[in-house]
Amino acid sequence: MKNFSSILLSLSRKSCFTAMATPKKLKVAVLGPSGQCGQCVVNELLSRNHDVVGLSRNPPKTWTSTTNTGSYTAESVDVFDDSSLARAFSKGYDAIVCSYAPPLGDFSKLYQLGVEGHAKIKTALLASDHKGPFVVIGGAGSLHCADRRQLVDQPDFAFGWWYTWPSQHVEYMRVRASDHGATFFSRFIGGFAWARQTVEKTGLLSTVLRPFARLYLRWAKKFLTSNETISLITQSRIALRLWQGVTEKPWTFLSPPGQLRDKGVRTGQYRVYVDTAEDPAVEATERGIYNEDMAVAIVDEVEKNQLNWKHWTCTGPIDLGRW
Ligand SMILES: NC(=O)c1ccc[n+]([C@@H]2O[C@H](COP(=O)([O-])OP(=O)(O)OC[C@H]3O[C@@H](n4cnc5c(N)ncnc54)[C@H](OP(=O)(O)O)[C@@H]3O)[C@@H](O)[C@H]2O)c1
Repeated sequence: MKNFSSILLSLSRKSCFTAMATPKKLKVAVLGPSGQCGQCVVNELLSRNHDVVGLSRNPPKTWTSTTNTGSYTAESVDVFDDSSLARAFSKGYDAIVCSYAPPLGDFSKLYQLGVEGHAKIKTALLASDHKGPFVVIGGAGSLHCADRRQLVDQPDFAFGWWYTWPSQHVEYMRVRASDHGATFFSRFIGGFAWARQTVEKTGLLSTVLRPFARLYLRWAKKFLTSNETISLITQSRIALRLWQGVTEKPWTFLSPPGQLRDKGVRTGQYRVYVDTAEDPAVEATERGIYNEDMAVAIVDEVEKNQLNWKHWTCTGPIDLGRW
């Protein structure tokens, strides 16, 4: 059970900022501005009047949002060119947010591109002149559970984890995969939802279909526990390991909670948990947050810089009946 003394914040940004002076305008680089997490961070930074530079291979050249008050520019850089990346990090930023993820196109390359990409990012940061906050977004699999082991090390991961998800989150994952053109994955998730429901429901039809549902779940388990499938999560865990122990520069590593949803709403409410093996953020493995609220937590950290050298997560309301 989480020690609540380590919960640093539980606030609505609105109530927080009525009590505080307006933060100064910052110049912030976001590595991976077009990604599902990076986009929300850019929107949040711009809405708070900060100046943002998007860094990636093909970053959006301009940014349109109704709440924009800050400015947006872009610089093309590939993380695998760590000399260029070090130069890009050395342009006088007050903070850098790393929302890099390896492309999902080929699962067989994900782990290598993820681990090597994060290693290059670390090399570049240490070689750069950047001295301010460096916020890395990683994966939920790095969070610790009650047995002190990380979520990704739990038996039958990721199948066992998926099996505990509420139906709404499984449906969210199905639709999200479909929206992103991952047709096989979307159909796979639809089948998983059907099979899970069928083995658990009573009634004649479920009884007749149960053997087929069990067969499907057996295949799903094989797929969801394979090294390739979980490589996006294991590479994020190694990214955390790469940063732990580094003291030359500030860094902070955010693992999203178990259920991260985009297409959400921004409530401005979130709760931060620092996660360690000794004091694991178990609640966060079971809860979730909208990407927009996670971006609020990230930009609060950019402005206040209270979580240096920590592994942390944040949860928020996700039971609003929409994603
Ligand atoms: N539930 C969870 O725990 C959860 C869920 C989602 C995401 N995440 C984590 O959040 C982080 C961001 O993920 P995401 O889903 O937002 O990623 P995403 O949507 O796949 O976007 C990845 C970003 O990285 C950039 N990028 C990829 N290769 C690059 C390269 N070689 N050089 C420079 N930039 C490169 C891409 O831009 P270009 O293509 O222009 O280069 C893109 O902006 C990751 O660590 C991911 O694991 C965790």
